Amino acid sequence: TKLFGLFFVLAMALSGCGKPYLSVLRPAGEVAQEQFNLMMLAVYIMIVVIIVVVIIFILAVFKFRRGKVGENFMPKQVSGNHKLEIIWTAFPILLLLILAIPTVTLTFKLADTKAMDKVDEKGKNKEMIVNVTANQYWWEFEYPNQQIVTSQDLVVPTDTKVYFRLHAADVKHSFWIPAVGGKMDTNVDNINKFYLIFDSKKAKDADNVFYGKCAELCGPSHALMDFKVKAMDKADFDTWVKDMQGVKKAVAATSDSAKEGEKVFKQSCIGCHAVTPTGKGAKGPNLTTFGERTRIAGVLEHNEENLKKWIKDPDSIKPGNKMTGQYKVSDSDIDALAAYLMERKVEN
Ligand code: CUA
Repeated sequence: TKLFGLFFVLAMALSGCGKPYLSVLRPAGEVAQEQFNLMMLAVYIMIVVIIVVVIIFILAVFKFRRGKVGENFMPKQVSGNHKLEIIWTAFPILLLLILAIPTVTLTFKLADTKAMDKVDEKGKNKEMIVNVTANQYWWEFEYPNQQIVTSQDLVVPTDTKVYFRLHAADVKHSFWIPAVGGKMDTNVDNINKFYLIFDSKKAKDADNVFYGKCAELCGPSHALMDFKVKAMDKADFDTWVKDMQGVKKAVAATSDSAKEGEKVFKQSCIGCHAVTPTGKGAKGPNLTTFGERTRIAGVLEHNEENLKKWIKDPDSIKPGNKMTGQYKVSDSDIDALAAYLMERKVEN
């Protein structure tokens, strides 16, 4: 039964059932769908090849078995048979062409990012662009046209070509949203460009949330380097942009403890982290919307207790992260900081 259970889980994983869109086999956007179709084309061709080869093999085994043809049987020799040679040369070429033509066509289509470099007379770009910076072990998303910066949460409009410029701050990472596309390297020395399309129906079905991962081994906490994708329709996205742009300063702290936390933050944290929507932190993630997140450091459940644990000893949670050892705060400071950070939101 254990084995059966394993098969069941595998079958579920492969068929991509269930709510979250986590798999390449369950595409949730045009780019992913086209890549999926290409993959299936290759699979179908391989199945045909396997069936033909296995049938010929079985026929040969039965037809020429020793009991039937005898000990010293020598089959008809086909060396130099032009007809056969033409068949077994032309047939694979045909199969390769059937594979190659759509593969090359799609590769060039998906690599076409010319539109993202075009600007109008005001120097404004009409396309939806996100500059992605990968860091050990978190993601920064900068919206150059909207002048917004977020970290860990990538917010995108659905049914729109979203162009990405990928860059890494420290070592090589890879940007991947399994259900939507990617697995494009983020490098330190160059910028990789590509685009993705987030399907509105699939997004709705997924409660507007997809999950992204780092797909390149980048250090001890590589496996924890996830991000969240909030895919919303154009109207909701525009509202989000307005909300973010409206919050020019950090939302004021309300409770006494949060006010105290703000002071501690300004002494100990502001050197690395930004708390305004337009601010790029010097070294760490932008925390403007920290209170709206669902994960702390991408790995812990989002609550004040876990936040305190994280601030107190980040290395025990995400080994190798760059926050460790950067600050010295007392336990009461940590309590205040946690209260302050949990209030960081842009809804109001
Ligand atoms: Cu970043 Cu793996």
